[in-house]
Amino acid sequence: MKNIYKNSLVNLNKAKKFLKKNNIIAVPTETVYGLAGNAYSNTSIKKIYKLKKRPKKNPLIIHYHNLQALKKDANIDEKFLTLYKKFSPGPLTYVLQKKKESKISSLANANLKSIAVRFPKNVVIRNLLKQLNFPLAIPSANISSNVSPIKAIDVVDEFGKKISFILDGGRSKIGLESTVISLYGKTKILRPGAISHKKIGKVLKTNISILKKTKKLRSPGLLKRHYSPGIPIKLNCKKADSKTAFVVFGKKYKKAKNIFNLSLKGSLEEAAKNLYKTLRKIKNLKYKKINVVKIPNQNIGIAINDRLKRASY
Ligand code: TXA
Ligand code: MG
Repeated sequence: MKNIYKNSLVNLNKAKKFLKKNNIIAVPTETVYGLAGNAYSNTSIKKIYKLKKRPKKNPLIIHYHNLQALKKDANIDEKFLTLYKKFSPGPLTYVLQKKKESKISSLANANLKSIAVRFPKNVVIRNLLKQLNFPLAIPSANISSNVSPIKAIDVVDEFGKKISFILDGGRSKIGLESTVISLYGKTKILRPGAISHKKIGKVLKTNISILKKTKKLRSPGLLKRHYSPGIPIKLNCKKADSKTAFVVFGKKYKKAKNIFNLSLKGSLEEAAKNLYKTLRKIKNLKYKKINVVKIPNQNIGIAINDRLKRASY
């Protein structure tokens, strides 16, 4: 593909140039691929919302290389530092109080008093962030409500030629979006991910709850149809007819053309990694229906079930 660029010094410099001119590029992260733009620039942020057809009320995550870079933009406390030391860089996003003097475009955080921040672990995006003197707003590189991309080629599947520069960082190791935890107001999980509420609770030595319903559009990823391949999905199924794509988990299922196993050995991590790839494949094979078996609701299984539930809405 002409718009996919391998990770190299030359291409990192090209990426830098695009971003400095307030243009949008696609970048790899360990969770999913994202669309990156200069978080200080209104022009860049507007372009991101337009490309994604994303509602303006749905704020973006700001990505940083390290703590030093964050300090200009958000107020931090002990709780944040404890989690940061344990989980960052990695697949955890923190909602913090935005500093008044922060230069982050208010369009990027939907004019809220808070901002969501993350320190990605993938080395390609980390190298890029290190070389920039501004943070990057990076939402997942999908059209709003679609399945997120986990490979460079998936970004082409979503945007075609609309994105002229895709930085290739290999396949996303985790395959599901980061856990979002709010440390602004009551501590709670807004979006489940690879780092479970249990793991976080252990580190903070307290129980952490997962937000169920909100009246306000706090974390829209938790509310409406999202992460969807655009085909009706039925959950907790025991079988499927041969015309329906059957998504299974574990070794008790036989092989067939319409059977897609998320993890033969029954690993939830592997299932998470395969989920979006599988849904995208099923969509491209033009199936009209998807049945999914019951997935164990523990650890990253909670995040898998969260995405499947929204996809089936
Ligand atoms: O893994 C990830 O987090 C990926 C990669 C590319 O880093 N990014 C990602 O971004 O998933 P996005 O824009 O698709 O999801 C951002 C989520 C949304 O659910 C949004 O509502 C929530 O973060 N969010 C952002 N700012 C927020 C804020 N100030 N308060 C509450 N939720 C916020
Ligand atoms: Mg998204």
